[in-house]
Amino acid sequence: MAIERGANVSEAQIAVHWKEEEYLRPTPKFVGQANLVDPAVRDRFKEEHFPECFREYAELLTWDRYWHTTLDTSTPPFWKWFVGGRLNACYNCVDRHLAKYKNKAALIFVAEPGDEPIYTVTYQELFTRVNEVAAVLRDFCGLRRGDRVTIHMPMIPELPITMLACARLGIIHSVVFGGFSGEAAGLRAADSRSRVMIYADGYHRNGKIVDHKPSADIAVENAEKESHKVEKVLVWRRYPGQYLSATSMVAGRDYFMDEVLSDFKRAKVDPVSMDAEDPLFLMYTSGTTGKPKGCQHRTGGYLAYVTGTSKYYQDIHPEDVYWCMADIGWITGHSYIVYGPLALGGTSVLYEGVPTYPDAGRPWRIAEQLDVNIFHTSPTAIRMLRKTGPDEPKKYNYHFKHMTTVGEPIEPEAWRWYHEIVGKRAAVIVDTWWQTENGGFLCTTIPALDPMKPGSAGPGALGIYPVIYDEEGKELPAGSGRAGNICIRNPWPGIMQTIWGGPDRFVNQYYRKYCRNPQSTDWRDWPYFAADGAVLPSDGYFRILGRVDDVINVAGHRLGTKELESACLTVSEVAEAAVVPVVDEIRGRMPVVYVSMKPGVSDEKRVIGEIITTLETMIGKIARPKAVYIVPDLPKTRSGKIMRRVLAALSNSMDTGDVTTLANPDVVELIRREVQGEEPVVLKEGPEDVKQFGANE
Ligand code: WTA
Repeated sequence: MAIERGANVSEAQIAVHWKEEEYLRPTPKFVGQANLVDPAVRDRFKEEHFPECFREYAELLTWDRYWHTTLDTSTPPFWKWFVGGRLNACYNCVDRHLAKYKNKAALIFVAEPGDEPIYTVTYQELFTRVNEVAAVLRDFCGLRRGDRVTIHMPMIPELPITMLACARLGIIHSVVFGGFSGEAAGLRAADSRSRVMIYADGYHRNGKIVDHKPSADIAVENAEKESHKVEKVLVWRRYPGQYLSATSMVAGRDYFMDEVLSDFKRAKVDPVSMDAEDPLFLMYTSGTTGKPKGCQHRTGGYLAYVTGTSKYYQDIHPEDVYWCMADIGWITGHSYIVYGPLALGGTSVLYEGVPTYPDAGRPWRIAEQLDVNIFHTSPTAIRMLRKTGPDEPKKYNYHFKHMTTVGEPIEPEAWRWYHEIVGKRAAVIVDTWWQTENGGFLCTTIPALDPMKPGSAGPGALGIYPVIYDEEGKELPAGSGRAGNICIRNPWPGIMQTIWGGPDRFVNQYYRKYCRNPQSTDWRDWPYFAADGAVLPSDGYFRILGRVDDVINVAGHRLGTKELESACLTVSEVAEAAVVPVVDEIRGRMPVVYVSMKPGVSDEKRVIGEIITTLETMIGKIARPKAVYIVPDLPKTRSGKIMRRVLAALSNSMDTGDVTTLANPDVVELIRREVQGEEPVVLKEGPEDVKQFGANE
């Protein structure tokens, strides 16, 4: 099952290959109530009905004007979906539910402190609040359709409210995960040229209040370094009227939202009718180069895709209580906390804090109290809750009908705990494989129709035709036993439009590798390269092995090794740096840093400390490495290329292969002794720094 081995190492190469598992079937009770029980759906979404099959998703939305062309392939790979159609995403998630559901919960907010009351936002209240915020954005900030706004906020209801207010006006939101640093947010604000940034003053996390406002000051300063001026910073106060931050507000730049809003009480703002192809949002993610890329998602296709998949795969009905424990700052939160569930008139739970605060029973108490029946989380959270409270779920009287896992491969052992203990053998599980670039699920089982198989994502989702290619572009058939690169043969409505400001990067990253004919306007010549390794047994269930590029998936968060290495190199004592993935029991993978020093540096401990601080400030606490090693030299080829795969092999106790051809073979033995012999500088880690999908500060 070897994957190509070059100088670099990828996650897929260090994947653990578990054995094939038996199938499990959904209970008749689940099937009896499921949204999708008609087996003919597979035929409706067959290739011969592509792309018109996706009308079935688009028809779940309310359009101002119907589209004339479902898929336009005239400028590949810049596909256009539902061309000619007009709609507003906010209208679809809010206004259109008022007639039937105005008093129904849209969002249920659970604060981390247990004594704070639950805040239920009905559709009527959501409508009022979104309108008021939209009025602020339009009339106070002067923002218009097509402008960008960077939102750097924690998990509080004002986050989706602000996003929907942007969508109402056609303002392109760019949400940066709250746990990222101010530096990271500033860089993204500069890249998207956001004149306005939106913050919260602070939030609760693991029993403490995090002062978040300082990140705003850093972000604005950092954007300035990139020659970009942020004109206004709007600050939501976690408790209106009470400022949680120690930093001062900057006159003429910073404004408290609660104060500004007092001038816009009960303001109404008409939703702006947008072209289906107008961008809805940007979501930055790490890629192979140092700079994060802004994945640009379209309005019509994206919304149709997340609504359809939320209905068929998440099985959301308006009467369900659905809780996705991801952070809205990631794509999962955008698609499956905000846009998908709300477009269906669902009830979506928002939890502010860490799952293990104050103990590992918290998620199950919340589930019991709110009567949650659909639950959605990541393997990292599952592993962590299992480790810290394996029997906790049994103590609580909740009943999940459906559970999702997303973000990383899940090992069968963790899957079974999820099924037996968390799901009490009653909940159906979907293991959903997809990416920030994709908008929604790519591989998963249909919960009422397909059997589940622990450790496998499953077949392609409806209308998605995956394939595994080897390096030469030859298809590896099902049952070949060989691992290769998973690709999607066709476009789909949820695929990103482009990389913001980087159309060439978009083509090069995702389409160059397997494009059959750059002149062709036939989509069949343009397979999408996902940069994940996978195997396909004869049953057609894809098993994802992990990234094949320079991305490390830490607790479901993507970190680019190049980005981490560049950060290390800003420490003045560091001569060279290499970052590789290492298997971690809880987080799946973590980065390990290898550095060599410039001559004459003696205080290694201090430098290690500085490297860690630099990674945390330039990227965020999730970039905290599992270990930092200072080595005399990094293993290199004769042409001077750093052999990351040798380092990864050492870190993961794997065979380094033949190293005799290296320029400096002796250094491998020295490093081996350091890595496998002594205690490395292992940093404090534990459940307390794992938030929702992972570490966050
Ligand atoms: C990995 C998250 C195995 C994969 C939605 C992908 C998975 C990366 C799964 C995207 C899964 C996601 N099984 N691996 N069910 N889901 N991945 O962009 O390596 O944050 O490329 O999107 O996570 O991460 P991203």
